[in-house]
Amino acid sequence: ILNEIEQLPADALFGIKQRYGQDDRATKVDLGIGAYRDNTGKPWLLPAVRAAEQKIHSDVATYNHEYLPITGLPALTKGAAQVLFGEELVNEHSDRIVTVQSISGTGALHIAAKFLSKFFSSKKIYLSDPTWANHKAIFEAQGLTTTTYPYWNAATKSLRFQEFLHAIETAPEGSVFVLHACAHNPTGLDPTEEQWTELIDAIAKYDHIALFDSAYQGFASGSLSKDAYAVRLGMKKLALASPILVCQSFAKNVGMYGERVGCFHIVLPNQSEETTAVVKPAVQSQLAKIVRSEVSNPPAYGAKIVGTILADDVLTNQWYTDMITMSSRIQTMRVSLRNALINLKTPGTWDHIVEQCGMFSFTGLSPEMVKRLEEEHAVYMVGSGRASIAGLNEGNVEYVANAIDEVVRH
Ligand code: LMR
Repeated sequence: ILNEIEQLPADALFGIKQRYGQDDRATKVDLGIGAYRDNTGKPWLLPAVRAAEQKIHSDVATYNHEYLPITGLPALTKGAAQVLFGEELVNEHSDRIVTVQSISGTGALHIAAKFLSKFFSSKKIYLSDPTWANHKAIFEAQGLTTTTYPYWNAATKSLRFQEFLHAIETAPEGSVFVLHACAHNPTGLDPTEEQWTELIDAIAKYDHIALFDSAYQGFASGSLSKDAYAVRLGMKKLALASPILVCQSFAKNVGMYGERVGCFHIVLPNQSEETTAVVKPAVQSQLAKIVRSEVSNPPAYGAKIVGTILADDVLTNQWYTDMITMSSRIQTMRVSLRNALINLKTPGTWDHIVEQCGMFSFTGLSPEMVKRLEEEHAVYMVGSGRASIAGLNEGNVEYVANAIDEVVRH
């Protein structure tokens, strides 16, 4: 009875990691999955994380492996909302924010998709073209219909802003727009603050629901508040008639990749106190039901690490420093790669590598060039031409530039 089951190809992103692992060429470089590496190419345990772990382990009275509440570790959910919305907005609107812990960003998107499919199943989900490879699969797995809005102009390597705006204006009223909060994956190109204002005003005008995917806060600029600009603007301007949904991951900015730490937040519409007092517990209970029926209660260890960092001023400040360490090293590598390509007189323009932000550069290399980079030079990146700049370091950037130069010329 299983004979008819179709075998699917390996996951596009994790397939790269697998092929890279099996490659025994000494010069190999991994620019595939978005995971931070230090200047020696190794995973980096953030000093804030190391200190938090020591603190957790040394507290014998509370160090255990008990279940967390269904909605998550309070130190995490409370701290996560502050990271995202900032202290001022949280204090002002705490009665309208509902937060549950999730299995990182993917789990938060999954909760969002389940919630939307239960209560708003007729709504279309608008994804940027292009977007993170998993977005479409997560929403469609819950029976939701996805479509795209224009985003990246490959010819000019810029934002298709007017077309993006037009998509918002012409979508059926009340559609769901999935927006990358910052450091757009895969393009590394974000709207400017002025463009965000126009986009969010249009979303408000047509009563659409904004769903922010915040997976790289701190990676675009090194500053949490700058990178939360769109979410906070959304919170101020939207959530009047419609709720806003935010999916938050701590995989990248705390280096919690495998620990799966994240949160899902709903900001309720700005209604009367009496209405909010009824709606909030109802929404909370529905989210708790989703979590309980799928994972019972969320994983504890990574949540304790992030919760400990966020509840301790010294550790929080260390974390801010750690994010600057990561974002500034990536920026240095962007400059090094661009300069190396310019020195080599590699055909094409390469300033976009420096202008893009976050972990990725959408290099503009074709799928054929990417294939040759992997096969002939052991440089691994995504077929779309997305390169994780975090995989570059002083020891391999010249090698990568020479490999790119070769595939561009031949
Ligand atoms: C990526 O885009 O490389 C990361 O978000 C890893 C993933 O889960 O796909």
